[in-house]
Amino acid sequence: MCGIIGYIGERECSNLILEGLRRLEYRGYDSAGIAVISDGDFDIRRAAGKLDRLATSLAGEPLHGTVGIGHTRWATHGAPTEQNAHPHRAGDIVVVHNGIIENHRELLRELIASGHEFLSETDTEIVAHLVRRERAAGLDLRASVRAALQHVEGAYAIAVMDCQHPDTIVAAKNASPLVVGLGENENFIASDIPAILNHTRNVVFLDEGQMLELTRSGVTFFRIDDGSPFEPEVKHISWTPAMAEKGGYKHFMLKEIHEQPRAVTDTMRERIRLESGQVDLPELTLTAESLSNIHRAVVIACGTSWHAGMVGEYLIEQFARIPVEVELASEFRYRHPVVDEHTLVIAVSQSGETADTIAALKESKSHGAHVLAICNVVGSTITRLADSVVLTHAGPEVSVASTKAFTTQIVALYLLAVRLGQVRGLLDAERSTQLLQDLVEVPIHMEAMLHEGEATYLEMAKRFSHSANMLYLGRGLSFPIALEGALKLKELSYIHAEGYAAGEMKHGPIALIEESVPSVFVCPDGPNFEKTVGNIAEIKARGGPVIAVTCVNGKAALEAEADFVLTVPSSPEHTQVLLTSLPMQLIAYHIADFKGTDVDQPRNLAKSVTVE
Ligand code: F6R
Repeated sequence: MCGIIGYIGERECSNLILEGLRRLEYRGYDSAGIAVISDGDFDIRRAAGKLDRLATSLAGEPLHGTVGIGHTRWATHGAPTEQNAHPHRAGDIVVVHNGIIENHRELLRELIASGHEFLSETDTEIVAHLVRRERAAGLDLRASVRAALQHVEGAYAIAVMDCQHPDTIVAAKNASPLVVGLGENENFIASDIPAILNHTRNVVFLDEGQMLELTRSGVTFFRIDDGSPFEPEVKHISWTPAMAEKGGYKHFMLKEIHEQPRAVTDTMRERIRLESGQVDLPELTLTAESLSNIHRAVVIACGTSWHAGMVGEYLIEQFARIPVEVELASEFRYRHPVVDEHTLVIAVSQSGETADTIAALKESKSHGAHVLAICNVVGSTITRLADSVVLTHAGPEVSVASTKAFTTQIVALYLLAVRLGQVRGLLDAERSTQLLQDLVEVPIHMEAMLHEGEATYLEMAKRFSHSANMLYLGRGLSFPIALEGALKLKELSYIHAEGYAAGEMKHGPIALIEESVPSVFVCPDGPNFEKTVGNIAEIKARGGPVIAVTCVNGKAALEAEADFVLTVPSSPEHTQVLLTSLPMQLIAYHIADFKGTDVDQPRNLAKSVTVE
């Protein structure tokens, strides 16, 4: 939600900033703007809508300067208009901001009473005025920003420039992501790594309550509360810029779907010892003894990550016999959760920046629970707050709709479940080796699946893209996959879709069935196959079209019933989830693409939900 980039160096920067903003588009936005310092003043350009409108304006009348900041805005306070787009100016100060200033009403009243005039409806403009007030009182830019922030409550990553001091950008972070890129005679700030990856791979992730002063020759770091300096840890990012590009695919989402064989392999890499059936998770800092003393596990997550958590629940309960609850982080944080030092809390998050998951994580830690993060983004807030971190290594996920992050989260949870089962003496070497062998075969099956079947998806997209409603149904491990399929379809295609446990069908949703309401059944081999086939027959008897996702073995039985049958290779129940996830993603992708919706950046959605 909102993207920030800042540059100071020797290059003309407005195009560099624009390119950086393009790499932050995935975060979700509805207006954008850039400010550069030019001859002791600001040149500011803003536009409502997509970045192309800003790009057209810049192409017609370029901005010139070697220091600047840019922003993509996801509207919270005030409509997505040019007037409300960032940067916001107050006198010699401009500000861009990601987050929400919670006490903005009070600050606004105070500033208006002392004569400040406002041009936008945003909470951000207040920060520009607060800094201006401190500058007028004689403080330098860095001290002014620090003093201004003492009045601000809420979440922010901000970048501030003063046109009278063109050699400095000051930035600060509290509960919204901010990364610093270190270059040669040039330095960068950004909301996320892909924005600066073409220029540097040496980065610093800012923590809560930290600030920095960026000049061409270097960066100084200090704390917002007492102004004390500190030396941060510099990290080297191994992602290549190409990993964040489309690589010939029509959309990032399609590329990311096709990357899954590689991504899940990377999640397993160096964590599996097939010879001995061992799982190596040295990142899990609990001793074997503490692990065996865990009484229960609680997964906290949102959206797609919550669905991965549900798969984890089945796997951990099955392999390790530890009771698991899967909680929506947004609910958990407010309901006096029962967790203690014998609870393992597993925070699952692609971005590591989801506000609700961060809050639920902090709540869990305050009760003494050990928090294990399963996360994709190195250095993100969740990885820094957690006690143990298992990285999923999916690589950058740019498309707003999560795909490879989901399957890699499942792989990480699978490895954890096997590890817990071993520590608790429930999985011997032979069983462990078999479970790990099943997992190792997943990327091979995925690879095969991704090379066939496009014609069926296209035909299905043509037939169902005008549907207003769709149902997704599955039993057992296929239930969370059905939920995930429904979420993918609704967010990409704007078709209303509901996921249900197939056994619940007769308790309500069957009333919806008619010719215009297709049902997607996740129906692989296994103990639930026959029952689910029975549900399919009930839908067909009421005239509802059916898309069935099944294993090769089930194809013949289902072809007699379903309108479309999509097959996945036969595999054991506990790894089928990874395979049946792919048709869920592809059904949503092809229907959305056929409809012509914005696949990579669906309306109203943001990649990292950094506010509640
Ligand atoms: C859906 C999707 C979202 C995220 C959710 C949590 O495709 O991507 O539902 O899963 O916003 O985000 P993370 O995993 O970054 O915490």
